Amino acid sequence: MDGRERDRTHPGSRADLTRRLVQLVLPHLWPREPGLRLMVVAAAACMVAGKLVTVATPFALKGVVDALAPPDAVRPEAIPLALLLAYGAARLSSTLFNELRDSLFARVAERGGRIVARRTYEHLFALSLRWHLERRTGEVARSISRGLQAVGFMLHTALFTMGPVVLELLLVSGVLVWNYPPSFALVTLATVAVYAVFTIVTTDWRNRFRREMNEKDNEISARAVDGLINYEIVKAFANEAYETRRLDGALAAYEDAAVKAQASLSFLNAGQAAIIAVGVTIVMALAARGVVAGELTVGDVVLVNAFLLQLYLPLNFLGVLYRELRQSLTDLEHVGALLELRPEIEDAPDARPLRLSEGTVEFRGVRFAYDPRRPVLEDVSFRIPAGRKVAIVGASGAGKSTIVRLLFRFFDVTGGAILVDGQDIRGVTQSSLRSAIGLVPQDTVLFNDTIAANIGYGRPGATRAEIEAAAKVAQIHDFVTSLPEGYDTLVGERGLKLSGGEKQRVAIARVVLKNPPILVLDEATSALDSLTERSLQAALAEAARGRTTLVIAHRLSTVVDADEILVLDGGRIVERGTHEQLLARRGLYAALWTRQHERALAEATP
Ligand SMILES: Nc1ncnc2c1ncn2[C@@H]1O[C@H](COP(=O)(O)OP(=O)(O)OP(=O)(O)O)[C@@H](O)[C@H]1O
Ligand SMILES: [Mg+2]
Repeated sequence: MDGRERDRTHPGSRADLTRRLVQLVLPHLWPREPGLRLMVVAAAACMVAGKLVTVATPFALKGVVDALAPPDAVRPEAIPLALLLAYGAARLSSTLFNELRDSLFARVAERGGRIVARRTYEHLFALSLRWHLERRTGEVARSISRGLQAVGFMLHTALFTMGPVVLELLLVSGVLVWNYPPSFALVTLATVAVYAVFTIVTTDWRNRFRREMNEKDNEISARAVDGLINYEIVKAFANEAYETRRLDGALAAYEDAAVKAQASLSFLNAGQAAIIAVGVTIVMALAARGVVAGELTVGDVVLVNAFLLQLYLPLNFLGVLYRELRQSLTDLEHVGALLELRPEIEDAPDARPLRLSEGTVEFRGVRFAYDPRRPVLEDVSFRIPAGRKVAIVGASGAGKSTIVRLLFRFFDVTGGAILVDGQDIRGVTQSSLRSAIGLVPQDTVLFNDTIAANIGYGRPGATRAEIEAAAKVAQIHDFVTSLPEGYDTLVGERGLKLSGGEKQRVAIARVVLKNPPILVLDEATSALDSLTERSLQAALAEAARGRTTLVIAHRLSTVVDADEILVLDGGRIVERGTHEQLLARRGLYAALWTRQHERALAEATP
């Protein structure tokens, strides 16, 4: 297995992508739930009824006109009340049918959007840490929300606008062929054909502006989110103007793309209008000639005109729809591409849940590199017997946190193996592996929620009493109760309203609540005052009791009691042993210890 393999994209052309996007959306037209299917059927029935009424309307109008202006030019005797009422009723009911159709279909369209959104979100969590370290949050969020709107729109369009307009086109042409000389239908259909070709060609050409707009829109969102997340740094460096300028660069590019999109749209609209105008004029001229020749009535002229309007309006609409459909597809491209990324780390086909007996951890000749050009770990081997504590110390960048990521299988090792209770972690399911291990990360980031919710995250469904008990173990209970809002205090975005030490203790409480057999502590690098440090260590010792523990330590006082200490340097274990053994070796560890305890040592040895 190649541990360096990235999340992979599907190969294929743009046409392929379009097909796959359509496959992503279309199935939602026929949902699984019977209730929703019923709605689709009812909405379709409303659509057909609406169209039939719409096509019938001009006949009522012709009746009214012919009654008012009889061919023999005598004055009409009475108001054709029944026909007028029929005309009014036809107009009203076509609107009512359409509205009923839309309200029935809303649930279906929204459900489709929801399912795709849920799948996308789920999929994002399946993607590897590597992908997430490289992504831009604002961009992903923006393209997802754009994609979702597109799904609903496409569903609606697919059923109700494309279908009915085609139906209407057929009905109207049928009526024209049936009632009038073939030249009428011929001219009409020729107009439709020219219109369609013009629309498709022009729309495909101008779609590039839409794509450009989306790219710029993503960039704006990514920039803005990045700037706002780093608010404190931006302000501290007084770089507001710099940030704004960078955002404005993206805004300007968007502006350009949007202007181009509008200009090309106007060209499209004008061209379409011209084609229709020519078509209508020719057909009307044919009709007028028919009246002059005595073959048609004035009512026929009105009827033909009404039909043409009824034909070209939807045709125009079809043009708009085609355009919007193309746009929706473009909007969906990003989501579609996301969904097609195969996760770098996947459960093996025959993966089984981890069979946990006592919780031993073993690294066997582990080798790893984030980038093949730069190895990070070389031949790392160690074993933590059940319930024991192993510490890793070493310079910054030595690869300590990387070891933690490998144990969690956020990345696969490039060589060697990691075993938990004798099972290679590549052979067990990721979720069972991760449920067995608790992590107090180096940089604790919290959810923007209450303290109680952040602690409770360790075991969803935990009671308040359990949460408080965990907080007591982590020695943060007293602090929390001293807050005006207590456990309901909101911690702010990423927990920024708490101090570093407080955040760490919330993180400790979280793993205490999770109660895993294996515990990993990645000590924060920031120096805490000695009082906080002591209470933090007491909290950690309490949390680690009876568990297999891996401690990444920066303060060597944390590791004095470890069963084994590994000294990591440049990705290799260069020394190993207990605190006393390592001190006696007078090697790297002893030097580190001396440096950290210079003053204490100076006092102890005269
Ligand atoms: N996602 C990544 N992609 C590429 N290189 C990385 C990545 N994460 C870490 N590295 C590199 O790998 C090396 C080891 O990083 P690691 O975080 O394991 O160090 P560490 O020992 O935990 O350091 P510290 O004591 O500062 O926390 C570093 O040189 C770092 O730059
Ligand atoms: Mg680290």
